[in-house]
Amino acid sequence: MTAAAIVIFGATGDLARRMLFPSLYFLDADGLLPADLRIVGAARSPLRDSDFRAEVEKAVRERAGETVQSDVWKRFASRLRYCGGDASSADTYACLGKIIEGADDRIFYLSTSPALYGQIVHGLADAGLTNGTSRVIVEKPIGRDGASCAAINRDLSQRFTEDRIFRIDHYLGKEAVQNLVALRFANTLFEPLWSKDSIEHVQITVAETVGVEGRWSYYDDYGAIRDMVQNHLLQLLCFVAMEPPAHLDADSVRNEKVKVLRSLKPIVGADIAKKTVRGQYTRGVADGAQAPGYLDEGSASDTETFVAICAHVDNWRWAGVPFYLRTGKRMAERSSEIVIQFRAVPHSIFGASDLVANRLTIRLQPEEEISLQLMNKIPTLGEGGFELRPLSLDLSLDDAFKQKRRRIAYERLLLEGLHNNSTLFVRRDESEAAWAWIDTIVDGWARQGLKPAPYPAGTWGPAGAFALAERNGHSWHDG
Ligand code: BG6
Repeated sequence: MTAAAIVIFGATGDLARRMLFPSLYFLDADGLLPADLRIVGAARSPLRDSDFRAEVEKAVRERAGETVQSDVWKRFASRLRYCGGDASSADTYACLGKIIEGADDRIFYLSTSPALYGQIVHGLADAGLTNGTSRVIVEKPIGRDGASCAAINRDLSQRFTEDRIFRIDHYLGKEAVQNLVALRFANTLFEPLWSKDSIEHVQITVAETVGVEGRWSYYDDYGAIRDMVQNHLLQLLCFVAMEPPAHLDADSVRNEKVKVLRSLKPIVGADIAKKTVRGQYTRGVADGAQAPGYLDEGSASDTETFVAICAHVDNWRWAGVPFYLRTGKRMAERSSEIVIQFRAVPHSIFGASDLVANRLTIRLQPEEEISLQLMNKIPTLGEGGFELRPLSLDLSLDDAFKQKRRRIAYERLLLEGLHNNSTLFVRRDESEAAWAWIDTIVDGWARQGLKPAPYPAGTWGPAGAFALAERNGHSWHDG
């Protein structure tokens, strides 16, 4: 078997510490890493291997706590090597070359600023460190708009073929997102109803209670639409709206997703103010504690920390069905969910009873749950005969599978990268199609001077977000 190496650029950064090293450790603990895999950290700071191991151990213990087993840690630590240096320096690549010598299966994970992606892939290839099977994994954001995304993609494509470029969207590694594919395509129940004929509207919410958490300078340049909607929310929308793929392989799935992205109706002109809402949190109470406003955390800025959009997928299946997208920081609850709101029955035989239309809720966070709201008869002998009430069929994935620990999304993604399976990664045309739709909105905001409306921390966003749904006779499921 070929020896393998994964090189993590940005190895001393926040993502590597919080997600990548703990994920690799958990994979090792479960016996899922190739026995001879070397894990190489690369970053600017000059560190000895022993210092680097100590840093990684701290990061792993922060996440895995008591569960760290000394024999697994020993094995994991023996895989770790470090190479300090600048991405522009040939010495850095020479150092890496020595460490990964003999490992023919090579994965380069770029957890750095996207501004360095081009330099790193050229540096690697010029130093002869890549071969026909090497992969590069890149973190979001892939650009700040369509043009910068295309420029990054061009740089990557000069040194790696598309099937060797793995663009991360960590939402694709979440169990509940995977399960959405199973729910839709492994059951006969939903598919016949999965269209404009039976579905009135769809809501996709990713609400966070945290603020910008020390990432102000990055965040302020991006805002919620670029940080969350362009990637995570649009990916969720794709999984809800896509046609059944021919197979579960990378291209079949991604072909269907890109069709959805290309069918998104551009939001322009008067629709910018009618179908999009920007918000920015002010001081308030979030997660039970006083929270500062966005502007208290940085300087004066028009960046949005909340977005709501009423989107339409212009194709036969979804014509006329609103897809409400909503995401924000410092909101009332941490909650990510997809709500499929079915249409009301065409005619009620129950007289005055209020019939509530069926609703399917797929909850991603904090719990992984699926719940189907149905109308039920209350078991009484009331005079009127039938008294009805909506009740839910609830399925908790944690309870059903008695999971000891919920996996980090990055565990799955790293493993897929190691196995050279790109189904859960974003293809070039997807990344560019998503930006094309987002660019039109951002451009409309700039032209029309649409500023974010304030909302107090700990709430569900500005009033405009409620009006957005109410205008069509709909209301948000929560808040
Ligand atoms: C990241 C964003 O991609 O996703 C962050 O940059 C956001 O701003 C995070 O907080 C949310 O991820 P999760 O998995 O906690 O929902």
